[in-house]
Amino acid sequence: MPTRLVLAPMAGVSVQAFRRQGRRFGAGLVCSEMVSCAGLHHGNERTLGYLRIAADEHPLAVQIFGSEPPLMAEAARMVVDAGADIVDINFGCPVRKVTKTGAGATLLDDPERACRIVGAVADAVDVPVSVKMRRGLEDGSRACLEIGPKLVEAGAATLTLHPRSARQMYTGTADHALTAELVELVDVPVIACGDVTSRARAQSVLATTGAAAVMVGRGAQGNPWVLREILGEDDGEPTREEVAAELILFIRETVREMGERRASGFLKKFYGWYLGRGRFPRPFKQELVQLETTDDVIERLFAAAPGAAGVLEQLEAEQPETDDVLLELPISIYGGG
Ligand SMILES: Cc1cc2nc3c(=O)[nH]c(=O)nc-3n(C[C@H](O)[C@H](O)[C@H](O)COP(=O)(O)O)c2cc1C
Repeated sequence: MPTRLVLAPMAGVSVQAFRRQGRRFGAGLVCSEMVSCAGLHHGNERTLGYLRIAADEHPLAVQIFGSEPPLMAEAARMVVDAGADIVDINFGCPVRKVTKTGAGATLLDDPERACRIVGAVADAVDVPVSVKMRRGLEDGSRACLEIGPKLVEAGAATLTLHPRSARQMYTGTADHALTAELVELVDVPVIACGDVTSRARAQSVLATTGAAAVMVGRGAQGNPWVLREILGEDDGEPTREEVAAELILFIRETVREMGERRASGFLKKFYGWYLGRGRFPRPFKQELVQLETTDDVIERLFAAAPGAAGVLEQLEAEQPETDDVLLELPISIYGGG
């Protein structure tokens, strides 16, 4: 990894455009959102779409979730065939839709099965296998410290800890005292995740935990500039033109990735994330969300920040080609684009 900064996997956020942007802004590793091993097994079109990887994303971890060791092994092979450099296993998702199937954070309560999953995945692929987990299911749980060394013994080459309980979801704060304890217990790199939103916070988490890297999630939503700030390459707050240009590039790439129909709904949450933080007036954000097509949104952005055109031209000139689809996927997923 070129830097000690990892862009977190986020369902509904970590699309290819997000990951490529993260790499461009200095993330040393980017991750796909969690991909269902059952969806891969059944050849679900949308699930397979998550395996579309571009040349400039590497190093990239693709995250899989499930509860059956053989299915997880099969999924791991598929994601490596698609170009993943690391297979990451999700033992952290707190959402009921996932936990009720025995996957995600539930596995922290079933160390025997969790270890069988890690073992099966590690045996199935030649790339490193990592695990991302919560502290445990209930508040105050220390399950991660019990299960962590066992997962390493089973074949995990890296552990990422988000030290909140599953019950907490995203409330309260990440307790990185647990991360420090985990670092002491295992001899593989530990990645610290949770509430890292600035360089000061990243430095303090690295120093107090001994973690090998920090992972940033929500802080980077609509704000790739925070990655540069964390790396100490801050050129101050982005200008309006820079914000508009990044957002337009993000819109165009996302439309190419998933087609206009899906992208126009998917992108709405990003408008608030990009244009908030006092960068644009609130009514402008609300106006963008009401617009029907992404072309309308782009037009309004150019009107609000005419200088964005020049910035965008440069960004697009620097973007490598993206026609390196590694899986033969039905064109319908991407609306032909
Ligand atoms: C919208 C959203 C989606 C997420 N999806 C995933 C996921 O697919 N896999 C995963 O391991 N964690 C997922 N997470 C958790 C993040 O990776 C990260 O652990 C968490 O947000 C804490 O980091 P932060 O404080 O920097 O956001 C998600 C978080 C958010 C906010």
